[in-house]
Amino acid sequence: MDLRINGRRHAVAAGWREESLLHVLREHLGLTGSKFGCGQGQCGACTVLLDGEAARSCLLPVAAVAGHEITTIEGLGTPEAPHPLQRAWLSLQVPQCGYCQAGQLMGAAALLRRKPRPDAAEIDAAMAGHLCRCGTQQRIRRAIMLVVEQG
Ligand code: FES
Ligand code: FES
Repeated sequence: MDLRINGRRHAVAAGWREESLLHVLREHLGLTGSKFGCGQGQCGACTVLLDGEAARSCLLPVAAVAGHEITTIEGLGTPEAPHPLQRAWLSLQVPQCGYCQAGQLMGAAALLRRKPRPDAAEIDAAMAGHLCRCGTQQRIRRAIMLVVEQG
């Protein structure tokens, strides 16, 4: 079985078919940017893009995502060419411990893809399912608004 992740094909052994996408990303492919938080679809730490939509990778059996385009935080931008959200995150020094931030960035990327100019209420609604134990939500909202303002 092949998975298409960040523009590259990855072979996944048949024995991993029923594992969660998050588990395969982290344990089989070494893509450890996506984090395990609740394992129940409630915290957002494991969020990736599936065909451009935000998806909780802890809930997805890997067999269900073969043939789809998967993007993880490792594929959002590069150190040389960061995604605009990553630039805003850096300029506003958004993260504290950082544990939730990959999921937050993927959720924000899905939001801007779906709605390029969200208002504050729409940002809050879209990001409400992303928990941050360090309380960085205000800076996350400001960083998303910065990207919106910069067009
Ligand atoms: S680990 Fe997937 S939503 Fe919490
Ligand atoms: S920055 Fe620590 S959990 Fe969000």
